[in-house]
Amino acid sequence: MPVWQHTGLTLDCYPKVPAHVSLPWDAADEYLLEHCNHLASISTLLLNDRYGALSCALPHAASYNDSASGRIATQRNRALNSLAEIRFIDSPIAAEQILIKIPKNWEQLLDQLALITALAPTATVYLAGMAKHIPVSWLQWLEKNASRYVQYKIMRKARLIELTPSQSMLTSNDRFKGYQTDSGLSLSALPGVFARQQMDIGTRVMLEHLPNTMAGTVCDLGCGNGLLALSIKQQYPETRVIATDDSLLAVKSTRRNAEVNDLEIDVRYGNILQAVEESLDWIVCNPPFHDGHKQLTNIAEAMFLQSQQHLNPGGTLLVIANRHLAYMAKLKNLFARVNSLSSDKRFVVYQCHKHN
Ligand SMILES: C[S@@+](CC[C@H](N)C(=O)[O-])C[C@H]1O[C@@H](n2cnc3c(N)ncnc32)[C@H](O)[C@@H]1O
Repeated sequence: MPVWQHTGLTLDCYPKVPAHVSLPWDAADEYLLEHCNHLASISTLLLNDRYGALSCALPHAASYNDSASGRIATQRNRALNSLAEIRFIDSPIAAEQILIKIPKNWEQLLDQLALITALAPTATVYLAGMAKHIPVSWLQWLEKNASRYVQYKIMRKARLIELTPSQSMLTSNDRFKGYQTDSGLSLSALPGVFARQQMDIGTRVMLEHLPNTMAGTVCDLGCGNGLLALSIKQQYPETRVIATDDSLLAVKSTRRNAEVNDLEIDVRYGNILQAVEESLDWIVCNPPFHDGHKQLTNIAEAMFLQSQQHLNPGGTLLVIANRHLAYMAKLKNLFARVNSLSSDKRFVVYQCHKHN
């Protein structure tokens, strides 16, 4: 298991990723640790600590992690290093210093800055990430809108910024944004949720290929704003629909969309199907093929495996995927029968039947 030389901690990725593909820490974590205050008497908040590397290095810090699998990773890494379990917070709280691993999504970063500005206007905020993932326009915005701004030089390809927020980082707008579908669904989502302001093309293709009848218990695996789950409930009111996602922002958005559209579905927060104990007749899935900035199919593959295990005999998994991902062989290893319902230059809809 990898040992982080910088801290002596033993850390692992969860879901498991080979060490040559990804390590559970990076140079941006090291840069943050070199500059922040390590005293337990200084209240510290961590944002977006993917595998819990910072949480292990600063065990007294509170942590906000949107991802259910990120929370599992953190608990596992804390246990590996004989640290007590952490109680995660479900939205940022006030602290004297706040360490932010810069997320991939700019709107999500702006939202997090607005939340912490309202809660902790005098906090020292450190932001770090790999330099190639931080556009200059982001740095310019931060410099213009912070009341104090220090940009450190790039070290080991990582970038560190130290700032004090200012009132201009507050956003007065509604945090939810979205769109209407042709079928009359009103969808909105929090910053960072997939396809927040317009329907993903792949999801549209999947909607066009839903079967003529659907019955029993259906699960939308990786539900995002809940578009697939809500469309199914709208089209087949007799089905029981469960929607689940690893992202708390997605889960909150789907719950709100169910309420706004007056459709009764169960929305669960968890890694893959961890929060779904029911056995299922149908699973629909538009799986992720990135984890942070890395293109990885390990989560999609784990979704296929758990889907096979959760389906009733005779049950069906429908998957929409980019053609270049070539999932056919992987699905054929798991399911009795796999065919493609549709295939064009960009997307394939796979229909996978579990044996009776
Ligand atoms: C490509 S998006 C699809 C969202 C939505 N179904 C749609 O079609 O618009 C993939 C979704 O999978 C979720 N996801 C990523 N990793 C996951 C995991 N380990 N378990 C469950 N959901 C996950 C993401 O948060 C994201 O909402």
